[in-house]
Amino acid sequence: MDKRVLRERMRRKQRQLRRRKIMRLVGYVIGVVLVVTFLVRGVILPIARGIGGKDADKPVEIQAETTETAAADPDAAIRKPLKGKGDLTKASDLTAGWHEDENGKWYQNFDGTYYAGGFQEIDGVTYSFDDNGYIQTGWVSNGYDDLYFNEDGSYNPDKHKTRIALTFDDGPGEYTDQLLDCLEENNAHATFFMLGQNVGNWESTVQRMVDIGCEIGSHSYDHPDLLSLSEEEIQNQFQKTDDALKQACGQPASVARAPYGSANQTVYDIVQKPFFMWSLDTQDWSLLNVDADYNAVMNGDLTDGSIILMHDIHEPSVQAAVKLIPDLLEKGYKLMTVSELAEAKGVDLQYASYTDFWDSSMESGLVAGYEGSTSSEDENSDGSGGDVSDGDSGEETFDDGSGDYSDGSDDSGYSDGSGDYSDGSDDSSYSDDSGDEYCEEDSGEY
Ligand code: NI
Repeated sequence: MDKRVLRERMRRKQRQLRRRKIMRLVGYVIGVVLVVTFLVRGVILPIARGIGGKDADKPVEIQAETTETAAADPDAAIRKPLKGKGDLTKASDLTAGWHEDENGKWYQNFDGTYYAGGFQEIDGVTYSFDDNGYIQTGWVSNGYDDLYFNEDGSYNPDKHKTRIALTFDDGPGEYTDQLLDCLEENNAHATFFMLGQNVGNWESTVQRMVDIGCEIGSHSYDHPDLLSLSEEEIQNQFQKTDDALKQACGQPASVARAPYGSANQTVYDIVQKPFFMWSLDTQDWSLLNVDADYNAVMNGDLTDGSIILMHDIHEPSVQAAVKLIPDLLEKGYKLMTVSELAEAKGVDLQYASYTDFWDSSMESGLVAGYEGSTSSEDENSDGSGGDVSDGDSGEETFDDGSGDYSDGSDDSGYSDGSGDYSDGSDDSSYSDDSGDEYCEEDSGEY
């Protein structure tokens, strides 16, 4: 071997060593970069965000416009595109599916969008997303109703608040606005069965009822016993009241209550509104005492679906209501209008009489228009005391909007399907216990 060859080998070896050194250096640099990246993104940034209170700014960070609304359901979540610096990082780094950060769980779609501001079914489970795209747990308001979402964010259809309807008769009057203040403050709804003759004096009060989500009911024009009137007189009582209501708030009564609870199917068909009795009579018109009124409600039967009768023309009644409304809410009750209660319970209101929306009443076929029944009778066209149809036309109305989340649709147990009960056709069969005795002796409270 000559010197040349040896030198050549030496040079090769040196080159090899240099290459290894460079490789080691590159590896080292890559390692340092990875560690720094990890520290900055995993530790420093979250801390800095926490210190800067940037968690609250999250909505700004993932600011995006609404692109589409799923299935035209107003409660459905929308897909928001990921935008902005933070989101681009997020989108490029994270895959589709569930993700969790310091603010909670969120869901990324394959196209990079995420759900926000409503309900969305994912893998057969319904979740509620807040406006920032995080899932909500516990009670979530769905319009007038509250839905419950478990710890893992899944909707629990078996859990609902005890839903009851406060109703106030014979107004509006000088105390009604006080009651509206309380309802508005507590985000609670009630139904007012008003006398047409009172409406003109309290038009702004009536408008306010509509504005805060209360229901406009008719209690006739001047409180006659409808069964003593001719067909034309009955029509007149409700037409005049509707005219006064339209003048006051732009809409007629959606529901009605007969003075003294005295009516029958003929009356319902003439008036063409659902009629409401009550399941809890506070007798506030005779008690005229705040504590007694209060106790009549709080100690009364407040089964889910109850309808409570009070009178807002009496000052003690209104004072009692102002006291009991927040207390009922604190106890977990949800205060709805009668129509909201019907919808929540899966009932499509008919021109019939309603006393309550208890599960027991619905399951025994006492509630006209309950979608759980399977009647194929004709609509309630005959006023002759025949059968009241429970309305096979009802399902569509109910299924609109929030129907998917209604508990009523889950009551699958009922399927007796006989359909030939005659509840609404003459309400003597179930107003006996509460209404009749007062109807006769009392001169005008109902
Ligand atoms: Ni009355």
